[in-house]
Amino acid sequence: MLQSMLEQALIRFMNRELKSTLIRVCQGPECRDCGGPELRKLLLQRGIQAEKEHCQGLCAYAPIAHIDQRCISEATIKKIMSIIQRPGESEKQAATSS
Ligand code: FES
Repeated sequence: MLQSMLEQALIRFMNRELKSTLIRVCQGPECRDCGGPELRKLLLQRGIQAEKEHCQGLCAYAPIAHIDQRCISEATIKKIMSIIQRPGESEKQAATSS
């Protein structure tokens, strides 16, 4: 019983964290051709807010997405989900790269 309540609280916390993450998906011409709109649609279907953004000048790496300030090249739903389900990971990488 207690374990079940803790699991439910953890799931609620993780869902709140996912919803507070700002995700933007490029909708410029190259990213549009490489699946940007479909990627955004998949995120929205999972209840994750994903905004549109204009061409980022990184067309060779399309589709481009941003998770908060982090740029994701050749973005896929799998890549994005693996990053946002480990929220501490991006801060850890930022700390080691500076
Ligand atoms: S079209 Fe997306 S980076 Fe240029």
